[in-house]
Amino acid sequence: MKIQGVKGMNDILPADIPRWHEMEAVAREVFALYGYREVRTPVVEHAQVFARAVGEATDIVKKEMYAFEDKGEELLALRPEGTAGVVRAFIEHGAYVEGPQKWFYLGPMFRREKPQKGRYRQFHQIGCEAFGIAEPFIDAEQIALVDDYLARLGVRAALQLNTVGDPACRPAYLAELKVYLVEHKGELCPDCNDRIERNPLRALDCKVESCQPVLIGAPRLLDRLCGGCKAHFEQVKGALDALGVAYHVQPRLVRGLDYYVRTAYEFTSDALGAQSSVLGGGRYDGLVETLGGPPTPGIGFALGQERLAMILEKRGLEAKPRVPEVFFVTADAEGAIEALRRGAELRRAGIACDLDPRGGKMKAQFKQAERVGARYALVLGGNEVRSGQAKLKDVKTREETPVELSKLVERLKGG
Ligand code: HAM
Repeated sequence: MKIQGVKGMNDILPADIPRWHEMEAVAREVFALYGYREVRTPVVEHAQVFARAVGEATDIVKKEMYAFEDKGEELLALRPEGTAGVVRAFIEHGAYVEGPQKWFYLGPMFRREKPQKGRYRQFHQIGCEAFGIAEPFIDAEQIALVDDYLARLGVRAALQLNTVGDPACRPAYLAELKVYLVEHKGELCPDCNDRIERNPLRALDCKVESCQPVLIGAPRLLDRLCGGCKAHFEQVKGALDALGVAYHVQPRLVRGLDYYVRTAYEFTSDALGAQSSVLGGGRYDGLVETLGGPPTPGIGFALGQERLAMILEKRGLEAKPRVPEVFFVTADAEGAIEALRRGAELRRAGIACDLDPRGGKMKAQFKQAERVGARYALVLGGNEVRSGQAKLKDVKTREETPVELSKLVERLKGG
């Protein structure tokens, strides 16, 4: 039997890794500028954590979660997203006593979705969560952080902004929306029909062409906001204006997770095709309480690294992988031992180098030096070992310069 990877779960090969390192390094740098500190939580949590946080009725929990009984004892799940576990950790470690906290995380997430371009069963997120601040300025600051982050990577994405109300104004709106959708049942696709009872807000997000006329005519939550939500939204927009961050108000933007209140946002890119959302997030003021903590407001986002990697690939500015400074070409057994020794010395001094321990024809070894992109080739054999002298050959220009082996590190450090 030919063994293959699991459907929808991808290998990230060495050639792709520089892009991943770049997104992660820039995230660490930019997030730190805004006071976010890294947290690492397990990939597995009690399934309840996600059911309660993300919502029993959501597709993520109902259809897509990898849940399993651990030896018949407890129901566990691979995390489908990062926020629930981070909130669980925030509560479990009593972090709320220290006042507002800004945390970030990165790592693999799992959803049993139908795999397609930009949608996988294992994917990776980089996310930020800010706890303890109810004021709209933190919403704007976090969005500005995303804007800075994408700009540093040379990525252009459009900010879609909305508010999804709160428990004061949403229930009445949902009742009104439900009545409207029921009236138009016949014109809506089966998925929308399914959502009328389960999650009517999600129907607004349907992409099926034939549903659009009904959805465009649907009542808008933006027009039904309570005073608190309205003021919050206005202040978020005002702060974004002050920060010079452009946004599109998108009244039909809804998110696939139940914990959101007020601010909801996504950054989308045309470079991605159907799965255009590079990242998504919003405010979740009741979530810490839902999971058993004290009332604590919160706002966060997560970006999909596979999707960002696709944009970076198109952008074309590749971070260069590290190439060896020296490739040792060995002429005989004595040379091979010397190359091992000198190689260890160079690496201890922070100089990347390589050799082919199989030795073999020198011409083939030179070819290999070229293939791995080494700057110099250095031939080592009995003669070089005895005389302590060798030649550094520039792989591109083929120019040779003599070098004393005992001064190799000095010579390479000097350029
Ligand atoms: P989400 O919108 O479900 O939000 O996911 C955030 C991002 O993860 C998406 O915009 C997308 O880039 C990526 N993503 C989601 N599912 C997949 C998939 N199957 N394959 C590839 N990429 C995917 C959340 O997960 C929330 N926890 C975000 C958040 C943090 N809200 C508050 N704090």
